[in-house]
Amino acid sequence: MVLEYQALTTQDYIDLEKKYGANNYKPLDVVLTRGEGIWVWDVEGHRYLDFLSAYSAVNQGHAHPRILQALIDQAQRLPLTSRAFRNDQLPLLAKELCELTGYDKMIPMNSGAEAVETALKLARKWGYKVKGVAEDQAQIIVCSGNFQGRTISIISFSDEPQYRDGFGPFTPGFVTVPYGDLEALERAITPDTVAFSVEPIQGEAGVVMPPPGYLRAAADLCKQHNVLFFADEIQSGLGRSGKLFASDWEDVRPDMIAIGKALSGGFYPVSAVLTDSQVMDVLRPGDHGSTFGGNPLGAAVARMALRVLIEEGMIDNARQVGAYLLERLRQIASPHVKEVRGRGLLIGVELRPEAGGARRFCEALRAEGLLCKETHDHVIRFAPPLIITRAEVDWALERIERVLRTA
Ligand SMILES: Cc1ncc(COP(=O)(O)O)c(C=O)c1O
Repeated sequence: MVLEYQALTTQDYIDLEKKYGANNYKPLDVVLTRGEGIWVWDVEGHRYLDFLSAYSAVNQGHAHPRILQALIDQAQRLPLTSRAFRNDQLPLLAKELCELTGYDKMIPMNSGAEAVETALKLARKWGYKVKGVAEDQAQIIVCSGNFQGRTISIISFSDEPQYRDGFGPFTPGFVTVPYGDLEALERAITPDTVAFSVEPIQGEAGVVMPPPGYLRAAADLCKQHNVLFFADEIQSGLGRSGKLFASDWEDVRPDMIAIGKALSGGFYPVSAVLTDSQVMDVLRPGDHGSTFGGNPLGAAVARMALRVLIEEGMIDNARQVGAYLLERLRQIASPHVKEVRGRGLLIGVELRPEAGGARRFCEALRAEGLLCKETHDHVIRFAPPLIITRAEVDWALERIERVLRTA
């Protein structure tokens, strides 16, 4: 049977996905078909302001023309080589990324979870080969409330019961400390500790901010104990917080950083780990890899995604417009709001328990032409593309205010 796609309605698409797709997401029932800049359109022709940016993967805005052109050009030339052969894009991405961030070396991957896995493997191997930890004894300290992906090893250190339920047995070697608690971190460090893994802002936990000074002090502690400070900047990095990395807010230079999402401007899964030679050089040919990691299409897209982020002033814009949005949100007098927090254009509005959950507010905002999503039950996350202007934020604020006051 050939389906007449043009004639399908929103409900048809929802029914098809329900019938043929896994039930592992609970999306808002809007079926998007086109995007440009900060705007997206559904199959019925309604226009929405995207206030989520694909969980911060579309920092540069939808279908950014320069990234699109880089994708088309490279796709026409050579999309994939595998790492069995070299290609003429990966070395340039590696150079540009290292020059931009000040790290010695990078390793390319695809999804964020793969970058995190790569960083964990690097930390363990560094622990055994350089630090001198006894075989199979390496420990990695993680934070409560973490979200770093969905692989079995990563969910092994999640404290969210649903992410683990039914997926055991789990990978050992992880120790959890409360996010923001320095004393607990210090107590947890042993001679076998190889790394401390931390999100400089916990996006999925509900835009949870670190207490002031925490990242700086945690990085100092790690240095003191010869432990790698690993910052997962997959969501908070690449301009989202108003600086290149959220760690920059405390002048912290992590020993290792994972990036993904906006590294491709939303066109294609591209991720990477950045670190210095004494860590990266523990890897030998055959130790780790990925068929698609470092492919020329992804590398060309990432090169342009980084260029437009810098050249088009998106990071400064995120800082300025984000500060304005945060301040204006805090001024909204709503009986439902418990706290507004965030940095740059990564903002969480936490609702009071009696507000009836964040979902209904997201539904009401959708009806007003604004797309955002609840994180956990009580937080609405606002994370528009970093190209948004103050006037466009005003357009959004008018609707947010109406919904937060009256819904
Ligand atoms: C901080 C952080 N790390 C890792 C990931 C996993 O990235 P991916 O979904 O691309 O595997 C996410 C995704 O939301 C994230 O927010």
